[in-house]
Amino acid sequence: MAKAAVVFWSGTGNTEAMANAVVEGVKKGGAEVELIRVGDFSADRIADYAGVLFGCPACGTEELDDTEFEPFFAEAEGKLSGVKVGLFGSYGWGGGAFMETWAERTEAAGANMVADSVTCETEPDAAAIAQCEALGEAMAKAIA
Ligand SMILES: Cc1cc2nc3c(=O)[nH]c(=O)nc-3n(C[C@H](O)[C@H](O)[C@H](O)COP(=O)(O)O)c2cc1C
Repeated sequence: MAKAAVVFWSGTGNTEAMANAVVEGVKKGGAEVELIRVGDFSADRIADYAGVLFGCPACGTEELDDTEFEPFFAEAEGKLSGVKVGLFGSYGWGGGAFMETWAERTEAAGANMVADSVTCETEPDAAAIAQCEALGEAMAKAIA
């Protein structure tokens, strides 16, 4: 069975809650999935999966987390050509502006986005959880 990875960073748990919902969505869609903190992952492992869903909240000034996620993603950009990818993350006050830049970077790296990126303000509510599950299901469909 095709396997997806959900690779995330979360400081206060909001993006982690999104990641859990994305995992549920992949399972609902009938694919295998592994949930991995970005600190336990490396860009070299992207090739081991049929698709990867990345999660990171807005940090800095509409940026990715610079302690772990940004250094990882800067390396990952060189390995995303033709890879099926989905993005998600929580934000506080910027309306999700960070995601536009991130999605542009990901597309410029040659990734194939399986669905629109999912953002939500702080803790995901029921609607955001449903969007995260739909993202996971879209990945499952894309790698079937
Ligand atoms: C240092 C720091 C920088 C942040 N920068 C932004 C930002 O630029 N734009 C924004 O919308 N939210 C920003 N936030 C808010 C977080 O994105 C928000 O609290 C989010 O829900 C955290 O997700 P997490 O629980 O997965 O860490 C920032 C939070 C912190 C702690």
